[in-house]
Formats: sequence, structure tokens, C-alpha cells
Amino acid sequence: MTGTFLSFEGIDGSGKSTQARLLSERLRVAGHTVVLTREPGGSPGAEEIRALVLQGDPDRWSAETELLLFTAARRDHLERVIEPALSRGEIVITDRFADSTRVYQGLSRGDLRPHVDALHQRMIGREPDLTILVDMDPAEGLARAKARATEEERFEDFGVTLQEQMRAGFLDLAKSFPERFRIINGAQTPDAVAEDIFAVVSPTL
Ligand code: TYD
Repeated sequence: MTGTFLSFEGIDGSGKSTQARLLSERLRVAGHTVVLTREPGGSPGAEEIRALVLQGDPDRWSAETELLLFTAARRDHLERVIEPALSRGEIVITDRFADSTRVYQGLSRGDLRPHVDALHQRMIGREPDLTILVDMDPAEGLARAKARATEEERFEDFGVTLQEQMRAGFLDLAKSFPERFRIINGAQTPDAVAEDIFAVVSPTL
């Protein structure tokens, strides 16, 4: 048995977390078994790494160390949560996966993309069946993200110029992997976004 592996991607405040939850609820009502999870985190060990990477000063880690921490967290999440659920034939919906690393660590602090790709190939080695990119104007996204005021602000503190770069990075990735990416307009009501997402996910199930 192999289940279905779906990821949500987008810049901070794009609304993807809400949408991941809405989709999982809708699929459960339709009778599917759904594991809703997130990165960084998603397993007990990876949640501990999450606190390390998302809290504290923006320069707490070098770009290289940060990449290793995100990859370590993903490996644990994959081994202990994602792969077991897929082998039970379930649907896994993850709020962020490797595309976030390609964009955030690959572009934001030096050009680490070759390291990102090498580590991914050696340590992770799989992609989602479908990736929903919730696309959003960064100024709007950042205003939403800041309004939440949590301690997990290391990346949000990078500001709007960086978020512009991250948005462009996600759109470029969607072009590089057109068979699995679906771009959704995030600047609509949550219900309208949810309908667009359901329409692109249904054929995959
Ligand atoms: P997330 O909790 O999804 O925040 P938000 O709900 O605001 O989108 O992700 C936290 C931050 O972690 C986000 O700024 C992106 C960053 N991140 C990376 O830099 N690399 C990664 O590999 C992942 C998964 C996330």
C-alpha cells in the first residue's frame, strides 16, 4: 500500500497552515485517514529541533548549521511519521517540506542550493506527490504573520525584501517541478482558497 503525500508551501503568513487544516478536515469527513503534520517538526525529536531553529537571534546559527538542523529534523519526521503513515495507505498533509529548505536556506543567506540539493538526495530522497503553493503578496503575508506575535520570529524578522525573494524562489521551483506543483492564489477569502485547493487535490486521490 502506498498513501498520498501532499505538501503545502508558501511564504510566512500566506495562510497555508489554515488551508492544510481545512483540507485535512474535509478529507476526513469524506472518509480518508489523514495525518496532518508540519515542518520544522512533526515528530517529537524534530519538534525539539524546531525550537532551536525558530527561536532566538536571527544570527544564532550559521547558514550551514541551520541547513543541517532543518535536514536532521526532516529525516526524523520522515522516518517516524511520514513513511509509516504512507505505508499504511494514509494521506499525509505536511505544512512545509523540502521546498521550504530549497527556498529559505537555498536562497536567503548565500547560495547554499547545491548543499541543499546534495543533502536532500542523500538523506531525504523523496518528494511529495503534490505540492500546493499558496501564493501571496509578501507585504500582506508579513502583516498577517506579525499579527500572530509568537516567539518563532527568526525568519519573519528578515523583513519584506527577503520575503519577496522567497516568493520568487517558490514560483521558480513551481516552474522547475511543474508535474507536482499547483499554484493557488492566496489573496482570496479562506473559503475560496480552500475550494481552489480541493479542486486540484481531488484528481490525485
Ligand atoms: P512555519 O511554522 O510554517 O511558519 P509560518 O506559519 O509563518 O509559515 O515555518 C516557520 C519558519 O521556518 C518559516 O519562516 C520558514 C522556515 N523554514 C525554513 O527556513 N526552512 C525549512 O526547511 C522549513 C521547513 C521552514
